[in-house]
Amino acid sequence: MPSEEQQVESVRDLFDAWARKGRDEGMEEGHGFAAREAFRRLGVAPGQHYLDVGCGNGYSVRWAADVDPSVSAVGLDVSPEMIAKARAKTPQPNARFIHAPFPLPLLKAKTFHAIFSMEVFYYLPDLTWGILSAARLLVPGGLFACVVDYYEENAASHGWPEDVGVAMHRLSEAGWRAAMEEVGLEVVEQARLRPPLAEGEAPSWKQTEGSLLTLARRPG
Ligand SMILES: C[S@@+](CC[C@H](N)C(=O)[O-])C[C@H]1O[C@@H](n2cnc3c(N)ncnc32)[C@H](O)[C@@H]1O
Repeated sequence: MPSEEQQVESVRDLFDAWARKGRDEGMEEGHGFAAREAFRRLGVAPGQHYLDVGCGNGYSVRWAADVDPSVSAVGLDVSPEMIAKARAKTPQPNARFIHAPFPLPLLKAKTFHAIFSMEVFYYLPDLTWGILSAARLLVPGGLFACVVDYYEENAASHGWPEDVGVAMHRLSEAGWRAAMEEVGLEVVEQARLRPPLAEGEAPSWKQTEGSLLTLARRPG
């Protein structure tokens, strides 16, 4: 991993460029199946506080805001262009967006009932600090759904850091479990989320390996 500042800068530049090219919408669609499955497991309920770390164009924040007007739905992203898109696409008054790198120490501990993150955590400069920060933000009993497509068992993903020119942490399924447990979270479930094949579509890593979900709970 490069220095924290360099990593944050390269990630921001990459995703600003992707947002300008409209690739946020491609991610919303491409991640849609796994994201829905992970979001469903969080069981967001009226009155709860919801956070999406690395929210991109904010699609999951809109899902959470639509659960009930009493839900407070927050999306955070280091890319200002992603946050601008998220704001423009989100009319719900109970949704808001923060432009900042995660971890963000200013966020109050024990605030969120549900934290969602799709294809983000392996970019964090210090992964353990990032997971510990997510744990800190959860209320006791709160859930963290972390989904990654870049992981050890998914050989098709191994070239991605070189392809996009940004460093990434590559952990195995057991490694993600251990990383959650190391900071005191309880792993409730690990699953490979595999979308069904569309008619005429050839199977890819999405059907063979799938997206790796680690669902963890803050004890208490
Ligand atoms: C692969 S995209 C996924 C976006 C969205 N979750 C989705 O599923 O479409 C990764 C996102 O994470 C954001 N990101 C990466 N590192 C971050 C950090 N340290 N803090 C906040 N956002 C970050 C990027 O700017 C980008 O929008």
